[in-house]
Amino acid sequence: MAVNNGRYAPMRRYGHITGWGKAVPDRVVTNSELAQIVDTSDEWISSRTGIRQRYVAVDPRETSATLGTRAARAALESADFPANRVDLIICTTSSPEHIFPSTGSIIQDALGATRAGAFDVSAACSGFVYGLSLAQGMISSGQADAVLVIGTETLSRIIDWSDRTTCVLFGDGSGAVLMQASTVPGGVLSTALGSDGSGGDLLTVPAGGSKQPATLDTVAAGQHFIKMDGRAVFRFATRVMADATREVLEKANMSIDDIDLVIPHQANERIIRSSMKALGLPDEKVFINLQNYGNTSTASIPIALCEAIEQKRLKPNDNVVMVGFGAGLTWAATAVKWAVPGLKDVPVWRAGQRTATYGLAQVRSRFLKFSRRVEGSLLTEEGDGWNEVVADRIEGWRKTRKD
Ligand SMILES: CC(C)(COP(=O)(O)OP(=O)(O)OC[C@H]1O[C@@H](n2cnc3c(N)ncnc32)[C@H](O)[C@@H]1OP(=O)(O)O)[C@@H](O)C(=O)NCCC(=O)NCCS
Repeated sequence: MAVNNGRYAPMRRYGHITGWGKAVPDRVVTNSELAQIVDTSDEWISSRTGIRQRYVAVDPRETSATLGTRAARAALESADFPANRVDLIICTTSSPEHIFPSTGSIIQDALGATRAGAFDVSAACSGFVYGLSLAQGMISSGQADAVLVIGTETLSRIIDWSDRTTCVLFGDGSGAVLMQASTVPGGVLSTALGSDGSGGDLLTVPAGGSKQPATLDTVAAGQHFIKMDGRAVFRFATRVMADATREVLEKANMSIDDIDLVIPHQANERIIRSSMKALGLPDEKVFINLQNYGNTSTASIPIALCEAIEQKRLKPNDNVVMVGFGAGLTWAATAVKWAVPGLKDVPVWRAGQRTATYGLAQVRSRFLKFSRRVEGSLLTEEGDGWNEVVADRIEGWRKTRKD
């Protein structure tokens, strides 16, 4: 407790990013490979977008949850933090495993994060920054001490691979951070979230929800794939990236000159360059890695954050802005004071301990599933007497009819 004007006031709680991790599928698909399946070329894709390759989850066992679990494990490892002390898992995705249960819950089970609540956020490519904002709110209000925020996608499963206007853009992958409460000033300083639902039809998966449930017709018409008006999204994105960055700086009492690094949503190099130019930010203060990943939607910012850290582009006390936009339409930005002094030296034996913990999480999950089945079958066999009551009543009724 701190003394405030003679009264005791709770110490202010800050949300610091203390761990980070990323995961991608094994298979790289180059622009030239795409040119063999649709009418496009490496030259067109790289000059219009900056993308040269992307990762694609070819193995059907690789899903948004498995990628998210791998990224989350890496984040916990870099923070040297056990899964069973995580309070909340915020999973952001546009390619969830199911409508429900949430992909967050599946990841929670795989991690053995037995104390954690879990849910999904649907805010498309802005999702990860929405997730950071929620995590910060939970931490500063004292409702959570440790929150995993995961952005994870297997967009390759909802792409029409015969549509050259979309299939060249997207990629699969996952990035995660652990945010922890601290009384040390820093971490997430401000956030700005926005939405304009009137532009929802510019980037959408039309069917598969309650408006247009899956039917043979919706499948035949390709309504379960991503549909996009690329030019309209381009115009929206260039405007909103600069505006959201200005807004978040204003909220944090900072100016453009205070920024050390911007990590923008990695959709298109032209969008990034023109919006950063509008802000007057030099190229060396902008992190771009979309050439290797394509647009991984909500995973793009955390994947880029991980690479920026690996490349030592972030130092303690640096001010970093993360800014994204996407379907919805949505946009989101956050200003973060980077206060982590670099990767910790984790004892070698910890890796073995972690592997054992995740093995135990699997055993636990299977045991819980099994015991639910046993419980279900026992209930059916023994019942609560309802079946007998109904049988007696029917028998009585028959007798009455005969009489
Ligand atoms: C999609 C995008 C790269 C297209 O670039 P563009 O310069 O706007 O290109 P246009 O849409 O004007 O299309 C120009 C031509 O290229 C063609 N084209 C589209 N995709 C192509 C491809 N993969 N290969 C070759 N030609 C292609 C178009 O059919 C069009 O041909 P036309 O003039 O004969 O009609 C660009 O609009 C974009 O990046 N938009 C934002 C998309 C985005 O980021 N979405 C995700 C948001 S999170």
